Parts: sequence; C-alpha cells; structure tokens
Amino acid sequence: MSPPNGAGCHGGNLFQFGGASRGSFIIRGNRMPGCLLRAPGFFIEMDPAAQPQPFVEFRDVRFGYGERAILDGVSFSLPRGKVTALMGASGGGKTTVLRLIGGQQRAQRGEVLFDGHDVGRMDAATLYAARRRMGMLFQFGALFTDMSVLDNVAFPLREHTELPEALVRDIVLMKLDAVGLRGARDLMPSEVSGGMARRIALARAIALDPDFVMYDEPFAGLDPISLGTAARLIRQLNDTLGLTSIIVSHDVEETFRIADQVIVLANGGIAAQGTPDEVRNSSDPLVHQFVHALPDGPVRFHYPGVGIEDDFGPAHGGHP
Ligand SMILES: Nc1ncnc2c1ncn2[C@@H]1O[C@H](COP(=O)(O)OP(=O)(O)O)[C@@H](O)[C@H]1O
Ligand SMILES: [Mg+2]
Repeated sequence: MSPPNGAGCHGGNLFQFGGASRGSFIIRGNRMPGCLLRAPGFFIEMDPAAQPQPFVEFRDVRFGYGERAILDGVSFSLPRGKVTALMGASGGGKTTVLRLIGGQQRAQRGEVLFDGHDVGRMDAATLYAARRRMGMLFQFGALFTDMSVLDNVAFPLREHTELPEALVRDIVLMKLDAVGLRGARDLMPSEVSGGMARRIALARAIALDPDFVMYDEPFAGLDPISLGTAARLIRQLNDTLGLTSIIVSHDVEETFRIADQVIVLANGGIAAQGTPDEVRNSSDPLVHQFVHALPDGPVRFHYPGVGIEDDFGPAHGGHP
C-alpha cells in the first residue's frame, strides 16, 4: 500500500481504495489533484466516525510446543501506521509472536488476523501473497558474507520479482539512500561496522516495499550511537513509508522513545500494554522489574535450588 497521501488532500484522511483499510468509506465526487485517485473525479475518504481496522490482531491466541503453552489466551492489536514494541524476558514468546504473524507457525486456538484475514487459515498462495507485504529483520539477521552490500539488498527483489536489473539497481540505491548508506553499495559485509550492517539489513527488509515490518531484536549488540541511529531510522521509515511496525527489543530506553505502543509478554500472557508512559508507570511488579531493569523481583536472580546453608554446611565438607 502506498502511504496515505495526506499532503495535497484535505484532512489527510485519504486511504487507497481497495487497499488495506476496511473502515467505512465516504466517496466524494470532487476531483482533488494529488490525491490517491482510482476513478476519475472521485476520491475516497475515511468516515471519521469509523475506526480503521488494526493491521494485525491476535484474538485469544494459544500456541505451545508440545504440552507447554508459550502463549495462552493472548489478545492485542497493532494499529495501522504505528510502531509497537514487544518486550518481555527471553523465552517469553516474542519471536513466536512474529512467527505466528508470518505464518511459520499456526495458532492452536484463536485467530491471528493480518489485514483482516486469519493467517492460520490461509492457503499457501494467500500466505505467500501476505508475506510479500511483510518485511522482516531477523534475530541475529546476518548479511550474506559473500555478496556485496548492493547484492544483499537486491536479493529479495531478484528472488521475488522479475524486474529488469537496471530497475533493481535503482531500487536498491533508493533503499540504501533511505538508511544513509548509498555510498557503501560496493563494500563487502566484512568491510562495514556492526551498526552499518544492521542498517543494510534494514534496507533489505524494506526492499520489496512492505506495508508491515517486523524487527526481531534489531538493536542487539549495537553501541549506543548506532543503536540510537537504528532506532530513529526505524521510526522514520515507519512514518515516511506509511508502514506499520513491530519491534522486539530489550532496550527499554531507546525503544520507549520511538514506540507508540508497548506490549510486555510474561508467563504466556500480556503483563502490560499501553503507551510507553503507561507501561513505565505500571504497578505490576513484573513489569516494574523489567522496565526498571531490577536484578531481583518476580523474576528471581537465583536459579531455584537448595538453600545456601545446605550447600555450604559441614555435611558438605565446608566450615562448621
Ligand atoms: N522449535 C521449537 N521447539 C520447541 N521449543 C521451542 C522452539 N522454538 C522456541 N521454543 C521455546 O519457546 C519459548 C519461546 O521462544 P521464543 O518465542 O523464541 O522466545 P523469545 O523470542 O521471547 O526469547 C522458549 O522457551 C523456547 O525455548
Ligand atoms: Mg526471540
């Protein structure tokens, strides 16, 4: 979907006809130059009273490996055009959420709606088409080491389209320009810094002009400056390209700075959900521990075991 073309259109409330939004539409008959026109003389405006449908919605989702539930009765939505941060302890099911959206896993109960359609019920062709609309920056997502920067970003275009090579090159240079690395096109991955590599992976994630981008720990291992740059870039790309984004991240400060909405997963459910300020001020002890990076709390510092006196007492040869 192209971004809503707010600039020349009154109210900026215009959405592409037949595109992703499924609210109530008002169709007007005045021609408005510069707007997203699909029929001569008409433009389409969202009814201000209607709520746009979320881009992604989980409804009472259960998913587990074997008997063990990773997610149990999880419901949330990702509003269109917004950046949502998905947080929580390691092993809490964050990557699993992304895999459910991408259809690599299917919910065992409930629905995972992508633009109104249940991913779990899609046939292979529909799922493939849906995936074409998703960009993904994988956890530890590495570049192909034997390909130049340009070829790395070109990879999804060459895989998924029949575009002529000259056009592929132009698109790649545009994407690299968006992350500030047009000049690095001929470098090899071994010649770029960690922060640059992450931005190149970002350019690759948006190569196919997705509507929706999932970032799995995009900041892991970055120094504070590169981290800040990557975070601002994610926000900027979201807004300028009219995307909807979900970021899995442990970096509370930087992530809270760029997110519109924060969801904290814990114990198979949602421990907190709201604006960054709402979550920061949550009274839930687990959320408080997580957000304020406290070493001990509901998540214990010590792995469960016998008491310290039993381990170091005389029976074990220690001092009486
Ligand atoms: N293929 C798998 N088979 C069995 N267990 C898995 C598999 N993938 C992930 N898990 C388990 O599911 C839980 C959630 O994993 P994940 O979604 O990757 O967590 P997070 O991304 O929040 O760290 C973890 O306990 C993990 O060990
Ligand atoms: Mg993960």
